[in-house]
Order: sequence, then C-alpha cells, then structure tokens
Amino acid sequence: MPSSFRCSSAAILACAAALCAGCGDDGNQDADGARALLARVQADGYRSWDRAPGWEERRASSGAHAKAVDIFVNDRVAEALATQPERAALPAGSVIVKDGYDGDDFRLTAIMEKRNDGWYWAEYSAAGDPSFSGHPNVCLNCHRTGNDFVRAF
Ligand code: HEC
Repeated sequence: MPSSFRCSSAAILACAAALCAGCGDDGNQDADGARALLARVQADGYRSWDRAPGWEERRASSGAHAKAVDIFVNDRVAEALATQPERAALPAGSVIVKDGYDGDDFRLTAIMEKRNDGWYWAEYSAAGDPSFSGHPNVCLNCHRTGNDFVRAF
C-alpha cells in the first residue's frame, strides 16, 4: 500500500471511503433514508436520551469515529439493558446515536438502528450530510467483533 494511503486513526473512515471508491462497496447506499433517520432522532431529542452504559459522559473513542464521543441509547435499548443484562441481541426498534468531537468541535454523528432485517448504519458530517448509509462493509467489518455488532457496551 503506498504511504499516501496509510490511514491515521482519525481519518480512517474517509480513507476507507477513498480505498473503496473502486471496490464496488457503495458506502452511501441510502442518503435519503439516512437523512430521514437523522431528522427522526433529532425530533426525538436524542441528546437527552439515556447514555450508553460506561459512557455516562463524553470520553475518548477507541474507534475510528472521532477523538471523543457521546453515546446515547433510545428507550428500547435502555429497557433491554435493564431487563436482560446478559442480552444476546437488541430488539428491533433499538437506536444508538454517537456524536463525535475533536476538542469542543462537533465533527460527526453515527447511528445504528435495529430493523427487522438487522442493523441499519449511517454516519453524517457535522452539517448532517450522510457520508455512509445502508449496510456499508466499512461499518460491518469493524463492528462484527461486537456483541450483536455493538462495540461500546
Ligand atoms: C475501525 C473500526 C470501526 C469502524 C470502521 C466503524 N466503527 Fe463504529 N465504533 C467502533 C468502536 C470501537 C466503537 C465503540 C465506541 C468508541 O470507542 O468510539 C464504535 C461505536 C459506534 C456506535 C455506538 C454504538 C456501538 O456500537 O458501540 C455507533 C452508532 C457506530 N459506531 C456507528 C458506526 C457506523 C455507522 C460506521 C460506518 C460508517 C462505523 N461505526 C464504523 C469502531 C468502528
């Protein structure tokens, strides 16, 4: 791999997108659907949802998303966590939203929504423009190691 293609951890998603430009995996498969999903969680005031367990406040990310992240879970997830701590999989209707920051600068939002056919993935610029949507391999490949694809908890 030429050194110009080497990924810094902060740039890995953009880099993966560049690498994937020729590999047939369209990372932005459903931009309209992703916009609708973001509008829905914003209308629901996701920043006042419960925080994910272990993420009671903004803290450093070990992922590819941003330097520090806030992770919020909707009622469906909170309920599943409260009633089945050893959960095998989260139920349909589960939504997890992650906001990424570099210092105080808001950089991106990433969302996972559990649908009847599995997790739907989306990531947005700070302005709310989808950069990834649908079932991009870049999300799936890294999240595959999680508990039901969830990496944070
Ligand atoms: C290189 C690995 C990697 C890639 C690629 C990646 N993630 Fe993540 N993601 C993580 C890790 C690790 C976490 C745990 C929280 C943290 O450290 O930021 C996480 C957390 C999340 C969360 C919070 C819920 C959870 O699973 O913990 C969402 C939502 C999310 N990612 C969405 C996405 C989307 C959408 C994509 C594709 C655009 C994506 N991720 C690509 C590593 C990755």
